[in-house]
Amino acid sequence: MKILGIETSCDDTSVALVNITDETISVLTQTTASQIDIHKKYGGVIPEIAARSHTENIMPVVEHVMQGQQKPNMIAVTSGPGLMTALMVGVYTARTLGTLWNVPVIGVNHLEGHTFSSLLPETEGAHPQMEFPALALLVSGGHTELVLLENASTLRRIGATRDDAAGECFDKVAKLLKLEYPGGPKISKLALEGNTGAIQFPRPMIHEHNYDFSFAGLKTAVLYWLQDHPEHNINDVCASFEQAVVDVLVTKTVKAVREFQPKTFLLGGGVSANKKLRETLAAEIQKENPSLQFHIPVNKYCMDNAAMIALAGYYHREKAQLNLFIAANPNWKIA
Ligand code: KG4
Ligand code: ZN
Repeated sequence: MKILGIETSCDDTSVALVNITDETISVLTQTTASQIDIHKKYGGVIPEIAARSHTENIMPVVEHVMQGQQKPNMIAVTSGPGLMTALMVGVYTARTLGTLWNVPVIGVNHLEGHTFSSLLPETEGAHPQMEFPALALLVSGGHTELVLLENASTLRRIGATRDDAAGECFDKVAKLLKLEYPGGPKISKLALEGNTGAIQFPRPMIHEHNYDFSFAGLKTAVLYWLQDHPEHNINDVCASFEQAVVDVLVTKTVKAVREFQPKTFLLGGGVSANKKLRETLAAEIQKENPSLQFHIPVNKYCMDNAAMIALAGYYHREKAQLNLFIAANPNWKIA
């Protein structure tokens, strides 16, 4: 079936037309209007400006994606979590198009989108058959969560950050280092030239017997360290900081692999673009359980994108309805 995915939860206006069956996935078109250049002068996303840009971008992006295409069989739209006024642009667009075309619509949780993003082929390929239970690590600018999947539509959160998300921590530390937003890619680039053992930053909650995270203290530790060391090697700071984040994420994930014995592992979210995280996770999970199916997203599906929303919508397709009332829910949590 052809699914039109729509994603406007934060600062990317993304629309994709994806043909999905149980055997294959084919991303026919995806267009994303990024707002990074607008928000980087403020050092972060400004909700009102994001919503205005979505309003300007959404119809041109939909038209671009639908050029020469028949109407889809279904529409999947991110209805939460995210910025309320940004989500509303996507949700109202989906409901309007659903009514106009007379096709069913479904509201999708943004984090479920990230959960399945690693199953998407670059453009077309086989639909990977997941074995359950599956474990997902979601690491983005807004969230850091470990999620256990009983099947593709039953997800349970087993841990989450108690304060800042991993990506948010990268962005805040980048700001301390006077690097541009978004900071994650810049920090990981400088880290390549630095020494990971140069500075011993804390690894918050690493040995606690739960699957929660906390990154606010690590950011503060970097702040104090920088105040005490005005003369420093920025590459060493980036490498040592990145290593601290990766150590915490990998240690907790491996612990969850040990306890829950998943058959499949899924990585998702903007921070999953981080090379050190990908490589360390792959190596450590392989050591813990060599037979685990390991999925990491191709680069273009690490960031917010509409193809992942279409795929998550596919797994909930029986709930899609004509004229479905969907409300944007900025605080929608995976249970
Ligand atoms: O998933 P995403 O596009 O948006 C949210 O839903 O939040 O994630 C964006 C986040 C930003 O915080 C950005 O700094 C981070 O992902 N990020 C990275 C890397 N690339 C993007 N963090 C660390 N290393 C990277 N290579
Ligand atoms: Zn996201």
